[in-house]
Amino acid sequence: MNAYEKEHNEILRRFGAECAVLLKSDGTFPLDAPGKLALYGCGARRTVKGGTGSGEVNSRFYVTAEDGLEAAGFTLTTKAWMDAYDEVRAAAKKTFIKNLKRDALKRGTLAVIDCMGAVMPEPEYELPLDGEGEAAIYVLARISGEGSDRKPVAGDILLTETEKRDILALEKKYEKILLVLNVGGPVDLTPVMGVRNILLLSQLGGETGNILADIILGKSAPSGKLATTWTAWEEYPSVGDFGDRYDTRYKEGIYVGYRYFDSVGKAPLFPFGYGLGYTTFEMKAGKAREEAGRVSLDVSVKNTGSRAGKEVVQLYVSKPQGRLDQPYQALAAFAKTDELAPGEEQTLTLSCDLRELASYDAEKAAWVLEEGDYVLRAGNSSRNTEAAAVVRLAGEATVRQVKNCLGRPDFTDWKPESVSAEVPADLPVLTVDAAVIETETVDYEPQEEIDPLTAELRDEELCLMNIGAFKMKESMSVIGEASASVAGAAGETVSLKEKGVPALIMADGPAGLRLSRQYAVDEKGGVKAVGETMPESVMELMPGPSAFFIRHFMGGGKAKGEIREQYCSAIPIGTALAQSWNLDFAGLCGDLVGDEMERFGVHLWLAPALNIHRNIRCGRNFEYFSEDPLITGKFAAAITKGVQKHPGCGTTVKHYTANNQETNRYGNNSLVSERAMREIYLKGFEIAVKESQPHALMTSYNLLNGVHTSEHRGLIEDVLRAEFGYEGIVMTDWIIGALNFGRKKYPVPNAARIAAAGNDLTMPGGKGDFKAMMKGLADGTVSRRQLMVNATRIVRMAKKLTE
Ligand code: BGC
Repeated sequence: MNAYEKEHNEILRRFGAECAVLLKSDGTFPLDAPGKLALYGCGARRTVKGGTGSGEVNSRFYVTAEDGLEAAGFTLTTKAWMDAYDEVRAAAKKTFIKNLKRDALKRGTLAVIDCMGAVMPEPEYELPLDGEGEAAIYVLARISGEGSDRKPVAGDILLTETEKRDILALEKKYEKILLVLNVGGPVDLTPVMGVRNILLLSQLGGETGNILADIILGKSAPSGKLATTWTAWEEYPSVGDFGDRYDTRYKEGIYVGYRYFDSVGKAPLFPFGYGLGYTTFEMKAGKAREEAGRVSLDVSVKNTGSRAGKEVVQLYVSKPQGRLDQPYQALAAFAKTDELAPGEEQTLTLSCDLRELASYDAEKAAWVLEEGDYVLRAGNSSRNTEAAAVVRLAGEATVRQVKNCLGRPDFTDWKPESVSAEVPADLPVLTVDAAVIETETVDYEPQEEIDPLTAELRDEELCLMNIGAFKMKESMSVIGEASASVAGAAGETVSLKEKGVPALIMADGPAGLRLSRQYAVDEKGGVKAVGETMPESVMELMPGPSAFFIRHFMGGGKAKGEIREQYCSAIPIGTALAQSWNLDFAGLCGDLVGDEMERFGVHLWLAPALNIHRNIRCGRNFEYFSEDPLITGKFAAAITKGVQKHPGCGTTVKHYTANNQETNRYGNNSLVSERAMREIYLKGFEIAVKESQPHALMTSYNLLNGVHTSEHRGLIEDVLRAEFGYEGIVMTDWIIGALNFGRKKYPVPNAARIAAAGNDLTMPGGKGDFKAMMKGLADGTVSRRQLMVNATRIVRMAKKLTE
């Protein structure tokens, strides 16, 4: 292993336990020393490091639960069970893939397009539980991925009969039992709630198994908190649609996740923000202060248990129920303590600006703070808070005057019948005059800069500048493998060498940097990946002849030339990172990815991905952070700052926006109100842009209220650039114009319309896009001036990242 890999993996192992959430504990863990263990469950040997699709990272290794526990000195008495399980699983997988391919053909499509990311539900089986040891560890794993949504069926969101039976039998048999959840999103734990110890380990990248061993031995303590509500499947709200092929109505409006549960007074199994640890804490809120609209609250945290640990303090705010309906509360700030020794105390200051608490009033097309009481609540989960102070706003404030520009759905948002608005008596009150908040206005017609170089370009060249680099043949790279310069990178921009404009190289994420592990360099300096270029999860769905072609000609064939390596580190999935509630750790992850980008010549990382966990069924939720936009934005910003510390490296925040399901992802229309868009689905992007200025942003595949996000000038020019002050480049998601699948209702995006919307790049680019762009220029769909404006942004970024 190279020194940098070692160093990066050490960091990931050191912080990994911060992402793991202890859901239940009877105090029997950690164990004192490694002894005999009975290790069971589908994730025991087949531990999942992260989900499938373009985010799969080709790390040199990853440590499974079995390997990690053995390396830590445990003797596993259940090797025969794991061998037998492997056979059961392999047989089930074979049948599953065969059926997927057959059914896709019947529908007239290809499994690799229509079933990408499809999850094989865990099979049922009967294998004897005859291991022995000091404790039983049952690792329940689930995987999901790009292209398909999760299903509320046994073996996916629900537990199988086998799992329920075996977990409950082990709970009875062993004095010490730990149910480990190696999952990317919630599973319904109702049948096993009686299990005394449950750890949501999540999917922590290359070090997953080592981190588990460290937690079991108390070398590190879990200190994660849920970033999304966990409850029984039937308890999740069904107010809005999910899963329709063409239209998805976000009728629940702003009541997403805990905003719903808390407002309707429904107690979930495990609330948002919840997590135990190996020790206990006492929290006390101090005095609240206000200065020029900024509110701060001191909270002291004392370790009252007998082991060291970290705690997360969360500040929620309940807004006045006025003209606008409001959820019971929303997260306004959070902070994590240092590691506190038993008896140690630390005071944290949580603060937020009142302006950040503004709500979107669609009638006025403005962000407003209504007059009334804003109650500050501090605690360590959304269901364990104490009211600490009231900020009384005298008068209404208009924080920012904007314009409605996102279209209209064909419904009005749902709202709860009534939401508790009780303000506890005897709270300290801070009165703020609304006049301290000045109204910001937005310049929607800023002066656009044009690089003289772009004025000299011929029409063909200008069109090419607005499309990623490609050869004049259609790219069918379903997930990005379209870079000619760096093996396994997802794409690049056109380079105008003679004019001094270099190409920008882009590679996927978010669970690390996705490149080929090895590549060959030929005499002309051309690169070719060695080994598999596409992830196994995609290859197995390919029709036989295509898989043969890819294996033998696109990579994996006999590589000629010098072989070089580019091993990248697999970091925790987005959801796990958010569960750490530790922005410093997120920054470190960005930093190590930035280091690997510098090593391998990548300019733009196609990450972080910051869509909201709107419904636990979304197959890509594992890549995303949370159901809460504040956490989402803060984590994206922290990661971006970590990456962009490295000169020449930038992030690409994605997928902008309202991209919350995978079913028919290329042709699905999200119908969302202006208010829900701004308060929930755009908020994370707004925070990320304002706090960290990511160098790039990727639009999504879906439509928003009938318009493709990639072609949405309101989203791109008005909201992103004018309102948020975004300075980077905008690109589409991959092969947006070439895929015709699932497009029966809505049209395929078109490169000229994309450029006309101020979206700078159609990626990764193809002949079809080029023709469409030339045609659009000729018929006036896009002006030459707009192409010059877009090209100017690309040139500026190319120069900035390659200087
Ligand atoms: C995914 C993106 C990814 C791109 C390039 C698309 O299929 O939606 O997240 O960055 O491919 O691989």
